[in-house]
Amino acid sequence: MDRKRIALLGATGSIGRQALEIVSARPELSVCALASGSQPLAGLAAEHGVEHVQVGGDLIELLEASEPDVVLNAVVGFAGVGATLWALERGVTLALANKESLVAAGDLALEARERGGGLLVPVDSEHSALFQLLEGRAADTVDSIVLTASGGPFRNRSLAEHELVTVQEALAHPTWSMGPKITVDSATLANKGLELIEAHFLFGVPYEKIEVVVHPSSVVHALVRLRDGAALAHLGYPDMRVPISYALTYPERAATSLPPLDFRTGLTLEFEAPDLERFPLLRLAREAGERGGTYPCAFNAANEVAVSAFLDGRIGFHEIAGLVEDALSNVDGAPARDLPDLVEADATARRHAERRLVHA
Ligand SMILES: NC(=O)c1ccc[n+]([C@@H]2O[C@H](COP(=O)([O-])OP(=O)(O)OC[C@H]3O[C@@H](n4cnc5c(N)ncnc54)[C@H](OP(=O)(O)O)[C@@H]3O)[C@@H](O)[C@H]2O)c1
Repeated sequence: MDRKRIALLGATGSIGRQALEIVSARPELSVCALASGSQPLAGLAAEHGVEHVQVGGDLIELLEASEPDVVLNAVVGFAGVGATLWALERGVTLALANKESLVAAGDLALEARERGGGLLVPVDSEHSALFQLLEGRAADTVDSIVLTASGGPFRNRSLAEHELVTVQEALAHPTWSMGPKITVDSATLANKGLELIEAHFLFGVPYEKIEVVVHPSSVVHALVRLRDGAALAHLGYPDMRVPISYALTYPERAATSLPPLDFRTGLTLEFEAPDLERFPLLRLAREAGERGGTYPCAFNAANEVAVSAFLDGRIGFHEIAGLVEDALSNVDGAPARDLPDLVEADATARRHAERRLVHA
């Protein structure tokens, strides 16, 4: 049996570690390359028999050298953009956790996918759910799609209380255990904003047909409303190993050892509209998506700067949105023709956000 060769980028992270667990349990999967930002990889490389390893530096060199069948992009942030475009351009299957790259490079990514002709299988749980709900369905039978959001730890806190949020509180997510950046994004709902833009590019659905709904237990991952009035939902416990396994073993959908849904333990399925006043980043993301061009790239860049400033104690939780809004109103959002253009748009938005930080 030819084993599927996976390049695992972001191997030391939350998604990376869960992916290694999945790969270890499946004889048809193997890891041919490992990458991290700064943590050493020698131990993981020895444990999993991986020849190609890279800490920091150029991910493209690693991908060229290791010739993977699948790139699992689980890097955090814009740093993953080159790897996403590399896989799409060459038609190498892309299992995408790194949503920031698709948000920032959406138009370029779609063009690269068109040329490369390969598979793009989302790892984000909501998008994995939508991928499954939409597969094989004629686009004109779909009325709209719905992304669910847990609402994060501050769902019931007033705007005034957001000023008192500590880093420790923001890092305590009620339903998912994840890396620090996405955990803060989940608390501000910027994560759902990024996912809204991600869904637009992945499924070609216009923004007005993508709804976000707060669903605190995170059991329903997404829904599709159909033109006859029916709605289909995708359910499962919040556990990233399911969408990771789905993406790595697509289209076979291998078995996992995870428990099936148990209705005797009192599943609660409650839904409510998100509050855009208390969570302005969701509104800002939708606006950036609708404006198009490099506005989504700028949204992402400014948000990365703001989240890292919050985690370093330089700004308060409630100041993240203001920093992003300010950067968005200072960039021109002109479309990027190529990757260097996009890198420039990302850098410009970062500069605006950094400048505002200095004057904060
Ligand atoms: N965690 C989840 O449950 C979840 C769910 C859905 C989507 N996602 C998405 O998946 C991505 C990863 O999230 P995470 O929670 O796994 O993050 P994480 O735990 O913070 O891990 C990030 C990984 O990226 C690596 N990295 C950072 N900069 C890099 C660079 N320049 N080159 C190569 N590797 C680099 C880190 O290496 P070091 O350890 O050396 O810094 C680490 O391995 C994010 O885009 C996130 O939005 C995550």
